Amino acid sequence: MVLKKCSAIVLLGVSFSIGSCLIAKAQTSLFSAEAKQQAEALLKQMTLDEKLGQLNESSGLVMPGLATEKPDDLIEKGGVGSILWQMNVKEINRLQHIAVEKSRLHIPILFGFDVIHGYRTVFPVPLAMASSWDPSVEEQAQHLAAQDARAAGIEWTFTPMVDIARDARWGRIVEGAGEDPVLGSAMAQAQVRGFQGTRIGPDSVLVCVKHFAGYGAADGGRDYDSSYVPEELLRNVYLKPFHAAVQAGAGGFMSAYMDLNDVPASGNHWLLTDVLRKDWGFQGIVLSDAFAVGNLVTHGYARDGEDAAYKAINAGLNMDMASLTYTHNLLKVVKEGKVSEAYIDQMVLPILEAKYDLGLFTHPYVDESKVDTVLNRPEGLALERKLAGRSMVLLRNEGRVLPLSKGLKKIAVIGPLADAAHDVEGGWTVEGLFGGGSKSHPVTVINGIKNKLAADAQITLVTGPQPSKVYLGMLDQVTGTKPIPPPTPQETADWIAKAKAAAEDADVVVAVLGETANMSGEAASRATLNLPGIQEQMLEAVVATGKPVVLVLENGRPLDISWASEHVPAILEAWYPGTEGGNAVADVLFGGVNPGGKLPVSWPREAGAEPLYYNHTLTHDPEDRPSFKSRYWDIASKPLYPFGYGLSYSTFKFANLRLSKNSMSVSDTNEVSVDVTNTGSVSGDAVAQIYIHQRYGSASRPVRELKGFERIALQPGETKTLKFPLGTDQLQYWNPQSRGWVVEPTEFDVWAGEDSTASLHAEFTTIP
Ligand code: BGC
Repeated sequence: MVLKKCSAIVLLGVSFSIGSCLIAKAQTSLFSAEAKQQAEALLKQMTLDEKLGQLNESSGLVMPGLATEKPDDLIEKGGVGSILWQMNVKEINRLQHIAVEKSRLHIPILFGFDVIHGYRTVFPVPLAMASSWDPSVEEQAQHLAAQDARAAGIEWTFTPMVDIARDARWGRIVEGAGEDPVLGSAMAQAQVRGFQGTRIGPDSVLVCVKHFAGYGAADGGRDYDSSYVPEELLRNVYLKPFHAAVQAGAGGFMSAYMDLNDVPASGNHWLLTDVLRKDWGFQGIVLSDAFAVGNLVTHGYARDGEDAAYKAINAGLNMDMASLTYTHNLLKVVKEGKVSEAYIDQMVLPILEAKYDLGLFTHPYVDESKVDTVLNRPEGLALERKLAGRSMVLLRNEGRVLPLSKGLKKIAVIGPLADAAHDVEGGWTVEGLFGGGSKSHPVTVINGIKNKLAADAQITLVTGPQPSKVYLGMLDQVTGTKPIPPPTPQETADWIAKAKAAAEDADVVVAVLGETANMSGEAASRATLNLPGIQEQMLEAVVATGKPVVLVLENGRPLDISWASEHVPAILEAWYPGTEGGNAVADVLFGGVNPGGKLPVSWPREAGAEPLYYNHTLTHDPEDRPSFKSRYWDIASKPLYPFGYGLSYSTFKFANLRLSKNSMSVSDTNEVSVDVTNTGSVSGDAVAQIYIHQRYGSASRPVRELKGFERIALQPGETKTLKFPLGTDQLQYWNPQSRGWVVEPTEFDVWAGEDSTASLHAEFTTIP
């Protein structure tokens, strides 16, 4: 990273800061010099039409209700640079043969798809992987996913989704790393490394960091709705993981759907050129979200297709996903002189460079004979189970109900998710979505429990009805699938009676509740966060029997579990844990794995508290001071569980918080150290978290901000000393008055501990 000193800033007559400015490290050589040379040579041979063809990503599927066309003829004419939504390997090869053998310049197609959390082996959903607070979980998962994807002909993944999400109502919170920019940045970089490796090469899968930017701030948590995010909040929070991904060498970006401060992201010059390319030095490909270029007209931003094509290309958007707006209009835009051919060359260049570096010119085809062998590798499943275990968060364990004994003889497993094979993998699975059905063999929680217990154990399953009457997945909406009718009062009473009877006859009840996978994700926002359907009633009925109850949650967002948080002794957040999810849940329930995951989001008491996030500013009357502290009169405004929270079967003590300097210059670096001891009787993982607060300055700063974290394994009685830097990277913020990055002369609080409410405290000052 290259740092440049800024001069003193004088505003309102007060000189308040001599700080440091962060000048982004340019991606000096995102693609290889060889690829650049080859791409430039090829570009010279291309007609304008062929150049524009590279800017088109066509749909590989003709989707009902959507304006897509079969791409064969266009490919032959050199009119297709990339194809998405095609996972049939034979079809991929057929289309590639047309491009390589029949198009004039034989330029191969770049095949893209959403390989979000695994290919055939489905890893935990991204929100779960972020709960591990262990970036290597993401890196390992995405590395395996990259190998699988390449073997199956996918060279470009529309991952990672790095949108900050502060609102659990927003359905796509499941696809990201939660609410925090530092945790989100670490997870973003880990995914870039996992997919691309250290450099883009023939084994890499190119990433597409999305959705640039501010998509998670949708009004009311409603998917696709407008976002209004001031520049300071963008710079200090929402853009951070995107910038981190650029610094890690991301080769692709995806522009978001929504209006950002009234300018649609896909036609937003400030975002796609000023910030992304000029400030950050990004040299890769910007792809629109699906149909987003065409939809600039729908937004009321572009007059027609031609205006949309002009506004998008001029904003800095290289490739049009699926709308064919570039294909139908860009030639005219260039011919009319609105954009120059030299500018088009700049837009085409990274696409060709990527194709060279990915090895597509030398190895354009998939080896069909090897696909299944690669996708079915057993090591994938073993890794998946391990990473799923690392991603679970123990929210409650009163009376140490957990871990359960493997000697249990009678167990009742209730709830609609207990044996729901599809849901355990969560949404956005490659083969489950467009690939004609899942080819993996997901392990449900009941099967995981069966695998753990002796053959003669009595395991009774009572599922209950499907938890949703109105929720339909994104594709269900397109294909017109009918909603599932809710149970009648008589059916409800029958299910509850069955659950109660099973509980009464058992030693322990495991309730597997939450949301079906299609209730989270795109076009799946919710105005309520309750346990849908009759699940809460079933839970209350089994708790009323007095039997110990363990609640296992499978869900893509925090849910309203206020009642459960007071009445159910043990709660394990499993999210959607993936193909081996049921085994991984059983590993945790029976103590084979000690849970160490922590919440990447603040857990609301109910939907009305959203948006909810820990790194808010103090206000004139902070909540934890004695005066007018009430934010709502009907519920506590603090989260049910704070950001960073999660229990273990062990206990940890944080002590000896030290700083290397009590006072330092604004351009200096402090070092925080803290001792972490396992004070319990079993080995386990602690996640050390460092938070700061800037007490005063030229802007109000958040009550706390995460600035460092590390997940460590500790044996009983073992102590480790951890060190974290607090320098320019951690202390600077985008100043709304000077409109630049500053580190200010001021005082800082520092806390270390297990979550965002940590109390171990130190302080230091910064001087000019
Ligand atoms: C989603 C993107 C996704 C794209 C391609 C869009 O609807 O918003 O996240 O990558 O489809 O599948």
